[in-house]
Amino acid sequence: MILHNARAVLKDGVKKVDISIENGKIKKIASAIKGEGIDLGGLTVLPGLIDMHVHLREPGFEKKENIESGCRAAVKGGFTQICCMPNTKPVTDNKVVVSYIKNRAREVGLCKVHPVGAITEGQEGKNLAAIGAMKAAGAVALSEDGKTVVNTKLMANAMQYASDFGLICLCHCEDHALVDGGVVNEGYHSTLTGLKGSLRAAEDIVIAREICLAESLGVPVHICHVSTYSGVQLIRDAKKRGVQVTAETCPHYFTLTDEAIVGFDTDTKVNPPLREEKDRLAIIEGLRDGTLDCIVTDHAPHHYDDKNVEYDMAAFGISGIETSFALSYTQLVQGGVFTVEQLVEKMSAAPARILGLEGGAIEEGGVADLTIVDLNEEWKIDPALFESKGKNTPFKGRTVRGRVKMTVVDGEIKYKE
Ligand code: DOR
Ligand code: ZN
Ligand code: ZN
Repeated sequence: MILHNARAVLKDGVKKVDISIENGKIKKIASAIKGEGIDLGGLTVLPGLIDMHVHLREPGFEKKENIESGCRAAVKGGFTQICCMPNTKPVTDNKVVVSYIKNRAREVGLCKVHPVGAITEGQEGKNLAAIGAMKAAGAVALSEDGKTVVNTKLMANAMQYASDFGLICLCHCEDHALVDGGVVNEGYHSTLTGLKGSLRAAEDIVIAREICLAESLGVPVHICHVSTYSGVQLIRDAKKRGVQVTAETCPHYFTLTDEAIVGFDTDTKVNPPLREEKDRLAIIEGLRDGTLDCIVTDHAPHHYDDKNVEYDMAAFGISGIETSFALSYTQLVQGGVFTVEQLVEKMSAAPARILGLEGGAIEEGGVADLTIVDLNEEWKIDPALFESKGKNTPFKGRTVRGRVKMTVVDGEIKYKE
């Protein structure tokens, strides 16, 4: 396959090139390559986007999403590789479930799916899961996502074992006792709505704990979905001291604040909760100065029935994989914070580096995972058009810029608008 007339985001800048692909690899990048092919007409070609924090819900919660619908949503969102979290049923805490997910994803044959194994058996926080066996079966990281491992000694052991097996723990940071049933950020808007609030400290305390553990043990750690200004500062300080900490945030934390909860739309209910303007600005600054390494979606699809209830009762989560690129492009590139190269670093190169995955760059000899986008197209977010079974987005009706046109995985077109 030859892609003609590409505006490619390469390591040494954005260039007008043709790209030839053979056997799933990029063969040649040159100003003109002879031969039949696809004329991209100047569309922008990015290294395949990588989302290292996704909930695919299979096995067990297929009413919310399954591997097939989740992968269709992923390639529509421009993602060539995704990592799926272990809060399935049964929990992804053993090699059988890890293998099942990998095999099912291979059958579906859209994007690459990398399972994340649970830290403890059944995510019950009592005994470590079979870390070595999960690694051997293809798990790329460990996480207790959805909750925190409460027992600090157990978490220390997990980080040490993970590191011995060449894995990293992806930490969902939440002091459950302090959250105490809170559903939104504690502040003006929780008071206004009467919804129960949860302090920033509930997140920050565990971010600080994980940093302390990683620093004392001399192992790497990754902090999930950072939402607080104070959490950004903890990570910034730790990085300055040389702690091996990396961190992610999500489009909803740099686009929305807790003002969005005033209409009681349960699609604004997410964990950690939407915070305040000073948090939103600090998240953007954290992305800008490198404190926050990458952008993930925390794609958390839920069934209509899980959201169409009182705010207190509704499930936490946002279906985000089909809106992530456009929201990030609109907010950060259109917003003047980043160049498109810098956005690619956050959405492709950094996650590849953190997890040791292939991809993250367009280069000769490299894997032909590519995301082709129209950076000028504006469109309106309409969850009815989502491939994901989860229609739960607080961004419904919003106009965004940047549209995924085609997604190429291992040299094959897996999505075309
Ligand atoms: O909002 C969230 N939804 N946060 C989590 O930590 C879990 C996720 C889910 O699984 O729905
Ligand atoms: Zn989480
Ligand atoms: Zn999650």
